[in-house]
Amino acid sequence: MVNITSAEFVTSGTRPEHYPPGDLLEIAFVGRSNVGKSSLINVLVNRKSLVRTSSTPGRTQLINFFRVNGSLMLVDLPGYGFARVPPEVKRQWGPMVETYLAGRSCLACVVLIVDVRRTPAEEDRLMLQWLRAYDIPVLVVITKCDKVSKNERAKQASLISRTLGLAPDEMAFFSALSREGRDAIWARIEAIMAEGHSPSEDGAPE
Ligand code: GTP
Ligand code: MG
Repeated sequence: MVNITSAEFVTSGTRPEHYPPGDLLEIAFVGRSNVGKSSLINVLVNRKSLVRTSSTPGRTQLINFFRVNGSLMLVDLPGYGFARVPPEVKRQWGPMVETYLAGRSCLACVVLIVDVRRTPAEEDRLMLQWLRAYDIPVLVVITKCDKVSKNERAKQASLISRTLGLAPDEMAFFSALSREGRDAIWARIEAIMAEGHSPSEDGAPE
């Protein structure tokens, strides 16, 4: 997927009846509001603004599906943890996101995004615990690395891995500004998809 031949918005919605058919494997992106989920997807697909980004937290309030190279779906989930999101939106967030994550059988991997400058929040820890309980493969992307020095990054990486209990191969560094980490993240995603992909699900005739 390092070479992108096509990337297009498919649909958006809040409930399973809005989802696309589920014949392609899906990679979902979760994290705090404003952490850079949509920006990461844009860099992964080499597009400036396929996914709307914003400096106003809470921009993404629906589950958005993007098809890549006709063969894989990237799923942008609404962010959590922003205080100024209207109470009504907050109430809907849990059921909307949990229903997707718990029930989507074509979900191959969740990319959990955290800010290199912050200690992971309680919500990040709960999300990770919850994904592990459901046996969903997770890659933690530490983003906005352009905002800190190499020293600071190393310090924060050890704090983040300790707080979340991560093995080194469960983490990747990223910057949407410099695009650092893009190819490595694709490589990790592809490795995770390959691990979970049994030949019987292949559908290829012998
Ligand atoms: P919501 O949809 O509101 O939950 O936000 P999001 O997680 O999708 O974040 P989004 O991609 O919209 O980015 C939020 C802000 O952070 C925007 O102003 C981006 O330009 C900025 N941003 C995202 N990634 C990076 C990065 O790697 N480096 C820097 N410097 N800024 C970034
Ligand atoms: Mg967004």
